Amino acid sequence: MKQRHPSVPVITVDGPSGSGKGTVCRLLARSVGWNLLDSGALYRLVGLAARNHGVDMDNHPALEVLAGHLDVQFQTGGDEGDLRIVLEGEDVTQSVRTEEVGALASRVAAVGAVRDALLARQRAFRVLPGLVADGRDMGTVVFPDAELKVFLTASAEERAARRYRQLIATGDAVSLPRLVSDIEARDRRDTERAVAPLRPAADAVELDTTGMGITEVFDHLMRFARERGLA
Ligand code: DC
Repeated sequence: MKQRHPSVPVITVDGPSGSGKGTVCRLLARSVGWNLLDSGALYRLVGLAARNHGVDMDNHPALEVLAGHLDVQFQTGGDEGDLRIVLEGEDVTQSVRTEEVGALASRVAAVGAVRDALLARQRAFRVLPGLVADGRDMGTVVFPDAELKVFLTASAEERAARRYRQLIATGDAVSLPRLVSDIEARDRRDTERAVAPLRPAADAVELDTTGMGITEVFDHLMRFARERGLA
Protein backbone atom coordinates (compact mmCIF):
# COMPACT_ATOMS: atom_id res chain seq x y z
CA MET A 1 0.00 0.00 0.00
CA LYS A 2 1.47 3.34 -1.00
CA GLN A 3 1.83 5.86 1.80
CA ARG A 4 -0.22 9.06 1.66
CA HIS A 5 -0.03 12.48 3.32
CA PRO A 6 1.26 13.84 5.72
CA SER A 7 4.74 12.30 5.43
CA VAL A 8 4.86 12.61 1.63
CA PRO A 9 6.75 15.74 0.50
CA VAL A 10 5.21 18.09 -2.07
CA ILE A 11 6.64 20.79 -4.30
CA THR A 12 3.94 23.10 -5.68
CA VAL A 13 4.48 25.18 -8.81
CA ASP A 14 1.75 27.73 -9.54
CA GLY A 15 1.51 30.51 -12.07
CA PRO A 16 -0.36 31.80 -15.11
CA SER A 17 -0.61 30.10 -18.53
CA GLY A 18 2.68 29.97 -20.40
CA SER A 19 4.85 30.69 -17.36
CA GLY A 20 6.76 27.47 -18.12
CA LYS A 21 5.23 25.42 -15.29
CA GLY A 22 4.26 22.37 -17.34
CA THR A 23 7.65 21.72 -18.89
CA VAL A 24 9.66 22.53 -15.79
CA CYS A 25 7.43 20.37 -13.55
CA ARG A 26 7.87 17.40 -15.90
CA LEU A 27 11.64 17.88 -15.82
CA LEU A 28 11.69 18.31 -12.06
CA ALA A 29 9.49 15.26 -11.36
CA ARG A 30 11.62 13.12 -13.67
CA SER A 31 14.85 14.39 -12.17
CA VAL A 32 13.91 13.75 -8.51
CA GLY A 33 11.86 10.63 -9.36
CA TRP A 34 8.60 11.95 -7.87
CA ASN A 35 4.99 11.75 -9.08
CA LEU A 36 3.53 14.57 -11.15
CA LEU A 37 0.11 16.22 -10.90
CA ASP A 38 -0.90 18.33 -13.90
CA SER A 39 -4.00 19.80 -12.27
CA GLY A 40 -4.80 21.94 -15.34
CA ALA A 41 -5.40 18.70 -17.26
CA LEU A 42 -8.24 17.84 -14.85
CA TYR A 43 -9.98 21.18 -15.50
CA ARG A 44 -9.37 20.74 -19.23
CA LEU A 45 -10.93 17.25 -19.05
CA VAL A 46 -14.04 18.61 -17.34
CA GLY A 47 -14.27 21.29 -20.08
CA LEU A 48 -13.85 18.67 -22.79
CA ALA A 49 -16.38 16.29 -21.19
CA ALA A 50 -18.87 19.18 -20.96
CA ARG A 51 -18.42 19.93 -24.64
CA ASN A 52 -18.74 16.24 -25.60
CA HIS A 53 -21.95 15.87 -23.58
CA GLY A 54 -23.40 19.21 -24.76
CA VAL A 55 -23.39 20.62 -21.20
CA ASP A 56 -23.71 24.40 -21.05
CA MET A 57 -20.98 26.32 -19.18
CA ASP A 58 -23.70 27.93 -17.03
CA ASN A 59 -25.15 24.60 -15.93
CA HIS A 60 -23.13 24.36 -12.72
CA PRO A 61 -24.91 21.31 -11.22
CA ALA A 62 -24.20 19.29 -14.40
CA LEU A 63 -20.56 20.48 -14.45
CA GLU A 64 -20.20 19.38 -10.82
CA VAL A 65 -21.53 15.91 -11.69
CA LEU A 66 -19.08 15.65 -14.62
CA ALA A 67 -16.15 16.69 -12.39
CA GLY A 68 -17.14 14.22 -9.69
CA HIS A 69 -17.45 11.30 -12.11
CA LEU A 70 -14.65 11.92 -14.61
CA ASP A 71 -13.93 8.60 -16.32
CA VAL A 72 -10.25 9.25 -17.03
CA GLN A 73 -7.06 7.22 -17.14
CA PHE A 74 -3.55 8.64 -17.11
CA GLN A 75 -1.38 6.02 -18.80
CA THR A 76 2.39 6.30 -18.67
CA GLY A 77 4.47 4.67 -21.35
CA GLY A 78 6.28 5.45 -24.57
CA ASP A 79 9.97 6.19 -25.02
CA GLU A 80 9.96 9.37 -22.94
CA GLY A 81 7.54 8.02 -20.34
CA ASP A 82 5.04 10.43 -21.86
CA LEU A 83 1.53 10.49 -20.53
CA ARG A 84 -1.50 9.30 -22.51
CA ILE A 85 -4.84 10.68 -21.36
CA VAL A 86 -7.92 8.59 -22.03
CA LEU A 87 -11.35 10.14 -21.39
CA GLU A 88 -14.38 7.82 -21.57
CA GLY A 89 -12.35 5.38 -23.66
CA GLU A 90 -11.10 8.02 -26.13
CA ASP A 91 -7.46 9.13 -26.41
CA VAL A 92 -7.60 12.88 -25.77
CA THR A 93 -3.87 13.47 -25.19
CA GLN A 94 -3.72 16.01 -28.03
CA SER A 95 -7.22 17.49 -27.99
CA VAL A 96 -7.04 18.31 -24.28
CA ARG A 97 -4.12 20.70 -24.96
CA THR A 98 -5.83 22.95 -27.53
CA GLU A 99 -6.54 26.63 -26.82
CA GLU A 100 -10.24 25.98 -27.26
CA VAL A 101 -10.25 23.40 -24.46
CA GLY A 102 -8.00 25.69 -22.36
CA ALA A 103 -10.65 28.41 -22.57
CA LEU A 104 -13.38 25.93 -21.53
CA ALA A 105 -11.16 24.80 -18.65
CA SER A 106 -10.77 28.36 -17.43
CA ARG A 107 -14.57 28.72 -17.36
CA VAL A 108 -15.31 25.46 -15.52
CA ALA A 109 -12.45 26.28 -13.12
CA ALA A 110 -14.35 29.36 -11.93
CA VAL A 111 -17.16 27.13 -10.58
CA GLY A 112 -16.61 26.43 -6.87
CA ALA A 113 -18.50 23.12 -6.92
CA VAL A 114 -16.26 21.85 -9.75
CA ARG A 115 -13.14 22.80 -7.76
CA ASP A 116 -14.49 21.02 -4.66
CA ALA A 117 -15.34 17.93 -6.71
CA LEU A 118 -11.72 17.74 -7.97
CA LEU A 119 -10.02 18.30 -4.62
CA ALA A 120 -9.84 14.69 -3.38
CA ARG A 121 -8.74 13.46 -6.82
CA GLN A 122 -5.83 15.92 -6.77
CA ARG A 123 -4.78 15.06 -3.20
CA ALA A 124 -4.77 11.36 -4.11
CA PHE A 125 -1.65 12.04 -6.22
CA ARG A 126 0.29 12.66 -2.99
CA VAL A 127 2.06 9.31 -2.72
CA LEU A 128 5.65 8.36 -1.93
CA PRO A 129 8.34 9.20 -2.75
CA GLY A 130 6.87 12.70 -3.33
CA LEU A 131 4.80 14.92 -5.59
CA VAL A 132 5.43 17.82 -7.94
CA ALA A 133 2.09 19.62 -8.36
CA ASP A 134 1.51 22.06 -11.22
CA GLY A 135 -1.45 24.48 -11.23
CA ARG A 136 -2.95 27.73 -10.00
CA ASP A 137 -3.92 26.95 -6.40
CA MET A 138 -1.58 24.09 -5.50
CA GLY A 139 0.23 26.09 -2.79
CA THR A 140 -2.79 28.08 -1.57
CA VAL A 141 -5.63 25.50 -1.46
CA VAL A 142 -4.76 21.95 -2.47
CA PHE A 143 -1.42 21.46 -0.66
CA PRO A 144 -1.13 24.39 1.80
CA ASP A 145 1.46 22.42 3.84
CA ALA A 146 3.82 21.80 0.87
CA GLU A 147 7.55 21.76 1.68
CA LEU A 148 8.37 24.07 -1.24
CA LYS A 149 6.01 26.47 -3.04
CA VAL A 150 7.11 28.20 -6.21
CA PHE A 151 5.17 30.89 -8.09
CA LEU A 152 6.33 31.41 -11.68
CA THR A 153 5.50 34.51 -13.71
CA ALA A 154 6.54 35.99 -17.08
CA SER A 155 5.28 38.91 -19.15
CA ALA A 156 2.05 38.25 -21.11
CA GLU A 157 3.91 38.81 -24.42
CA GLU A 158 6.56 36.24 -23.58
CA ARG A 159 3.99 33.72 -22.35
CA ALA A 160 1.97 34.16 -25.56
CA ALA A 161 5.12 33.67 -27.66
CA ARG A 162 5.92 30.43 -25.77
CA ARG A 163 2.38 29.11 -26.24
CA TYR A 164 2.55 30.09 -29.90
CA ARG A 165 5.68 27.99 -30.45
CA GLN A 166 4.14 25.03 -28.56
CA LEU A 167 0.85 25.18 -30.48
CA ILE A 168 2.50 25.59 -33.87
CA ALA A 169 4.71 22.57 -33.09
CA THR A 170 1.61 20.47 -32.43
CA GLY A 171 -0.09 21.70 -35.61
CA ASP A 172 -2.67 23.96 -33.90
CA ALA A 173 -3.28 26.99 -36.18
CA VAL A 174 -3.25 30.16 -34.05
CA SER A 175 -2.34 33.85 -34.48
CA LEU A 176 0.06 35.53 -32.05
CA PRO A 177 -2.00 38.74 -31.41
CA ARG A 178 -5.04 36.55 -30.79
CA LEU A 179 -3.01 34.47 -28.30
CA VAL A 180 -1.88 37.58 -26.40
CA SER A 181 -5.48 38.75 -25.98
CA ASP A 182 -6.67 35.21 -25.10
CA ILE A 183 -3.92 34.90 -22.48
CA GLU A 184 -4.80 38.27 -20.98
CA ALA A 185 -8.50 37.30 -20.84
CA ARG A 186 -7.64 33.94 -19.24
CA ASP A 187 -5.31 35.65 -16.69
CA ARG A 188 -8.11 38.04 -15.77
CA ARG A 189 -10.61 35.21 -15.30
CA ASP A 190 -8.12 33.10 -13.29
CA THR A 191 -6.95 35.95 -11.01
CA GLU A 192 -10.29 37.70 -10.50
CA ARG A 193 -12.50 34.69 -9.81
CA ALA A 194 -14.05 34.47 -6.35
CA VAL A 195 -12.92 30.89 -5.58
CA ALA A 196 -9.24 29.89 -5.36
CA PRO A 197 -7.99 32.80 -7.51
CA LEU A 198 -4.51 32.63 -9.03
CA ARG A 199 -2.16 34.24 -6.51
CA PRO A 200 1.11 33.30 -4.82
CA ALA A 201 0.87 31.65 -1.39
CA ALA A 202 2.23 33.89 1.38
CA ASP A 203 5.19 31.52 1.79
CA ALA A 204 5.88 30.97 -1.95
CA VAL A 205 9.19 31.73 -3.67
CA GLU A 206 8.40 33.96 -6.67
CA LEU A 207 10.41 33.67 -9.88
CA ASP A 208 9.97 35.91 -12.92
CA THR A 209 11.02 33.75 -15.88
CA THR A 210 10.83 36.50 -18.54
CA GLY A 211 13.93 36.12 -20.72
CA MET A 212 14.89 32.73 -19.20
CA GLY A 213 15.18 29.45 -21.08
CA ILE A 214 13.67 26.31 -19.59
CA THR A 215 17.06 25.03 -18.36
CA GLU A 216 17.60 28.19 -16.35
CA VAL A 217 14.14 27.95 -14.78
CA PHE A 218 14.78 24.28 -13.98
CA ASP A 219 18.16 25.13 -12.37
CA HIS A 220 16.49 27.70 -10.10
CA LEU A 221 13.85 25.16 -9.00
CA MET A 222 16.46 22.49 -8.33
CA ARG A 223 18.38 25.00 -6.21
CA PHE A 224 15.23 25.85 -4.20
CA ALA A 225 14.60 22.11 -3.71
CA ARG A 226 18.19 21.43 -2.64
CA GLU A 227 18.10 24.34 -0.18
CA ARG A 228 15.16 22.59 1.51
CA GLY A 229 16.80 19.16 1.45
CA LEU A 230 14.30 17.86 -1.11
CA ALA A 231 16.69 16.89 -3.90
O1 DC B 1 -2.51 25.00 -16.77
P1 DC B 1 -3.57 24.86 -17.83
O2 DC B 1 -3.46 25.88 -18.93
O3 DC B 1 -3.65 23.47 -18.37
O4 DC B 1 -4.97 25.15 -17.07
C1 DC B 1 -6.17 25.27 -17.76
C2 DC B 1 -7.15 26.15 -16.97
O5 DC B 1 -7.52 25.48 -15.76
C3 DC B 1 -6.59 27.50 -16.55
O6 DC B 1 -7.14 28.55 -17.31
C4 DC B 1 -7.00 27.68 -15.13
C5 DC B 1 -7.54 26.37 -14.68
N1 DC B 1 -6.80 25.80 -13.56
C6 DC B 1 -7.20 26.16 -12.29
O7 DC B 1 -8.10 26.98 -12.12
N2 DC B 1 -6.60 25.60 -11.21
C7 DC B 1 -5.60 24.73 -11.37
N3 DC B 1 -5.02 24.19 -10.30
C8 DC B 1 -5.15 24.38 -12.67
C9 DC B 1 -5.77 24.95 -13.75
